[in-house]
Amino acid sequence: MPVAVLNFGSQYTHLIVRRIRELGVKAEILSPTTTFQTIQKEGYNAIVLSGGPQDAYRPDALRLDQEILLSDIPILGVCYGHQLMAIQNGGQVKRNEFGEYGVKTLKISHQSPLFKDIEKDVFNVWMSHSDQVIKVPEGAVSIGSTDTDQNAAIQYSDTRFSVQFHPEVHHTEYGKTIINNFLTLAKVKRDWDVNSFVDIVFSNLPETKGNILMGVSGGVDSTVVAKILSDRYPEKLHCVYVDTGLMRAKETEYVSKLFKVLNIRHFHVVNAKKQFLDALKGKIDPEEKRKAIGKTFIEVFEKSATEISEKYGEFEYLGQGTIYPDRIESSEPGKHAEVIKSHHNVGGLPEKLHLKLLEPIRDLYKDEVRQLGKILGIPSEFLKRQPFPGPGLAIRIIGEVTEERLQIVRQSDDILHQVLEEEGLTDKIWQFFAAFLPIKTVGVMGDSRTYDSAIAVRMVDSIDGMTADIIDVPKTVLLKISSRIVNEVNGINRVFYDITQKPPATIEFE
Ligand code: XMP
Repeated sequence: MPVAVLNFGSQYTHLIVRRIRELGVKAEILSPTTTFQTIQKEGYNAIVLSGGPQDAYRPDALRLDQEILLSDIPILGVCYGHQLMAIQNGGQVKRNEFGEYGVKTLKISHQSPLFKDIEKDVFNVWMSHSDQVIKVPEGAVSIGSTDTDQNAAIQYSDTRFSVQFHPEVHHTEYGKTIINNFLTLAKVKRDWDVNSFVDIVFSNLPETKGNILMGVSGGVDSTVVAKILSDRYPEKLHCVYVDTGLMRAKETEYVSKLFKVLNIRHFHVVNAKKQFLDALKGKIDPEEKRKAIGKTFIEVFEKSATEISEKYGEFEYLGQGTIYPDRIESSEPGKHAEVIKSHHNVGGLPEKLHLKLLEPIRDLYKDEVRQLGKILGIPSEFLKRQPFPGPGLAIRIIGEVTEERLQIVRQSDDILHQVLEEEGLTDKIWQFFAAFLPIKTVGVMGDSRTYDSAIAVRMVDSIDGMTADIIDVPKTVLLKISSRIVNEVNGINRVFYDITQKPPATIEFE
């Protein structure tokens, strides 16, 4: 039976769920207002309360259904959840003069089964709060403290605990041990593995009368869904790949070959390069460019769908590569979180096409999708592909997108790829690409003066794209990249290496 993670709006809620799932237990994100009745009805066996941005001591702050506390279901409270458990059990929370942000040291002040297998008395934990529990409820004991927080961890019973720090964050030493201890004490079943993904995915696929339409991009999610649907409905599935002209070098050939290897029978490539270039003409603003691309995509896709259905029969379903984080962010359990950045790929398609949706990987995280893909026979080298934005190279060309600029950025990107491959670095860099900068600078080539545009090179390390760090690339590699780009790409006489982290910059340029 799964663990319910009640989401009070923390940026780390998905991390909690991922850690629990990594430990072999199914976990799902639910609204913070979930009642005990629902918890019982849906068969959840344990609850984790996430962090959140509110001040728990305010009377209008989100509260936990009191029935949950009155029951004997195991609970682990984290950050805001820690404070809520204290308040709702009769303790007290107050704003502290000094907040605690970043790595702090926790001292185990009282032995507890929550700290089993932790060999140290003092260890690093990740904190992010300014309120703290100043009075522990009657019957509960403080089990851990920091230099400014006496009650950084509390035990309520053999199966109820709360911690002010974030055990789900990598910086917390023994974070996974703590979560694992809670799961053991809660006696939840460890049956979440790749075989259960296969079961969930295939057992939920419906009987269909009509055909299934699916837009594929060459990305991991849509390819895994295409493979699932083609295994189940080999003759009914029609995959449409729109060549927007905004793809990387040799991309269309690569994807076509892959779909052949995967034995997907109906794979339609639509060449729409001209429509996209026309739609982008004169557009400079990043949001306008994204909108123009989204709108054109829908038009091209719809037209292609009509043509295919005239030949092969009506469509009944639209397949989509939605994964768990995409879904939660826009729905009730995610609504208390602050949106950092929203990406627009091809929103609006389902509404336009009036088809029923098939989203077989809607409950899975990216790493789970990769594991599933592997079992389904998708080559590992493909599953390790870097993320590529829906709007493609258009958002890696600052300013107006033209055929000439596309050619420049594509060739520069290809050179970057080749150099990093030669240097054995491709697997070590989370994402790398070239971007076109529409500024002209003076250079000298041979004995002549040049006055040309510039390329920026971005190479970042990241875990999930939410934050990113720059890569420490040897000077020899940087020089190889810049000299090849300047020598081989017409119209470029200067190469910049972007040395900005995210935040404050984003990974993409637009
Ligand atoms: P940012 O630029 O937000 O990018 O730091 C974070 C990650 O998301 C990718 N990205 C996108 N992916 N549609 C996508 O599917 C988009 O519109 C989009 N914009 C950015 C980006 O490549 C990076 O990995």
